[in-house]
Amino acid sequence: MPANKTILALLVTGLLAGCGAETVSTPSTFATDSAAQAQAAGMSHGEYVARLGNCVACHSIPDAPPLSGGLKMAVPMLGAIYTTNITPDPTHGIGQYTFEEFDRVMRTGVARDGHRLYPAMPYPSYAKMSEQDMRALYDFLMNEVEPAAVPNQPSEITGIKSARWPLAIWNLLTLDTDPYTPNPEQSDLWNRGAYLIQGLGHCGACHTPRGLLMQEKALDESGSAFLSGAELDHWYASSLVGDINSGLGRWSEADVVEFLKTGHNRFGTAFGTMVEVVNNSTAHFSADDLQGMAVYLKSLPAVNERNATPYAYDDTATQQLVNMDFGTPGARVYYEYCSSCHVTSGAGYYPYQPPLAGNPVVMDPDPSSLINLTLNGSLRVVAPEQGPDVNDMPYFRQLLSDQEIADVLTFIRSSWGNKASTVSASQVAEIRAATDPTRNDDILILRMK
Ligand code: HEC
Ligand code: HEC
Ligand code: HEC
Repeated sequence: MPANKTILALLVTGLLAGCGAETVSTPSTFATDSAAQAQAAGMSHGEYVARLGNCVACHSIPDAPPLSGGLKMAVPMLGAIYTTNITPDPTHGIGQYTFEEFDRVMRTGVARDGHRLYPAMPYPSYAKMSEQDMRALYDFLMNEVEPAAVPNQPSEITGIKSARWPLAIWNLLTLDTDPYTPNPEQSDLWNRGAYLIQGLGHCGACHTPRGLLMQEKALDESGSAFLSGAELDHWYASSLVGDINSGLGRWSEADVVEFLKTGHNRFGTAFGTMVEVVNNSTAHFSADDLQGMAVYLKSLPAVNERNATPYAYDDTATQQLVNMDFGTPGARVYYEYCSSCHVTSGAGYYPYQPPLAGNPVVMDPDPSSLINLTLNGSLRVVAPEQGPDVNDMPYFRQLLSDQEIADVLTFIRSSWGNKASTVSASQVAEIRAATDPTRNDDILILRMK
């Protein structure tokens, strides 16, 4: 890859896109000004920033006007709230916000009327946005989005729990509101990736474990917990650091780019809550932004598996399945219900059905995603023009008991060279009780305007 040429081309476009003649000698806005990338992706600067931040994933619901809010979100230990209308409607939306008020709510979670937002709105990440991007985003929301007179729904957190003042203390203890400052020791692409991943992309909201106050344990690579894998809403967002088996240790930069662009690669497919990230956000990124994210992610060292032996294929289970030797619990269920797609060797049919052999997600330390997917299926990934349409995983909620699901998942986690902990029937029962089938035959890409 001629990476140097790409950077050069980008810098030139960046300059042409309006940096003005006096800034020719300081190319440092590459990482933090998204104007040039927006142009490469064929969008206005502000619309592109909204895609980078995936505002639609939370502020839009199907069959309602774009960005008019209404998505129900659980707040741990307290109850549920609804996302708000962020169209420029002056009564129900954010039409009366000045830029300064908007900037404050995006960085500190303090709304125009002074009330404090729950950090279900990822303002701790958005605080890293540059001023250029914040202004472009404001401009997009005020001028390109249609105002919609959709009233906000009241929060379902009631009584003493509904007091929002503890959030001020939360902010005091956990919030850092400084915009991203590029690290001069790293390349432009690395810094661009860091800006997107720590900031607008709010990848840590799902992928970083949370502490006692529900705050993300680290907001950048200086903390080893950053992106090291975490459970949220019964999905386990895998390790994105260099963990050799359950993380991205065996992925190349090109593998990361392909996954974020199309929702699949030779290791696996996006499913669960990652589908809305790919469909609404990363699939729309410019080539250089995807590359920057890959460069940054691949620079993060292993955390959970510092001295683990790298995965190597082992064909014992394949031979057992081919000979219909069902002595191992789960082998028969696998043969009957799974092998038609994932095949006896666990290799799948890339890109239509993902492999299970060597797939990092299958070796996640926490099996929540595997249980949830097997019980409930998943939304479909990716716009067809960006690659072949992948098949869908059926859901097995009605067909298989808790014990059968536990056994088959334990089987795939310990076959073909995979090494991960066993899954118990009680773990399956817990997720069964808390979830519904999510399968949907339509590919859902939420509109922003
Ligand atoms: C992960 C979900 C999520 C994402 C992504 C998200 N928001 Fe929010 N946002 C929320 C929630 C939840 C609230 C309401 C919080 C509350 O009521 O305490 C909110 C509130 C807001 C508010 C306050 C509006 C008001 O009523 O005063 C603004 C402005 C806002 N979001 C803008 C954005 C923008 C712009 C983006 C994209 C860059 C974005 N949000 C992305 C969840 C999200
Ligand atoms: C009809 C084909 C089909 C069958 C049968 C099937 N799967 Fe899948 N499976 C898929 C597809 C396609 C995906 C990718 C996610 C999606 O699009 O839903 C997937 C994803 C997975 C994943 C996540 C891997 C990843 O990286 O995406 C696991 C784990 C999994 N399947 C396990 C099973 C188990 C266990 C069974 C049997 C109980 C099974 N599958 C049966 C097609 C199938
Ligand atoms: C709403 C929650 C959520 C957000 C936000 C999120 N992810 Fe994910 N991500 C998941 C879940 C759950 C999985 C595991 C299922 C799968 O493999 O798709 C996952 C898986 C992945 C994988 C595949 C890991 C593997 O080992 O197969 C990559 C790569 C990834 N995410 C990158 C990102 C990046 C980069 C961002 C930020 C732009 C991001 N994610 C934001 C939930 C999320």
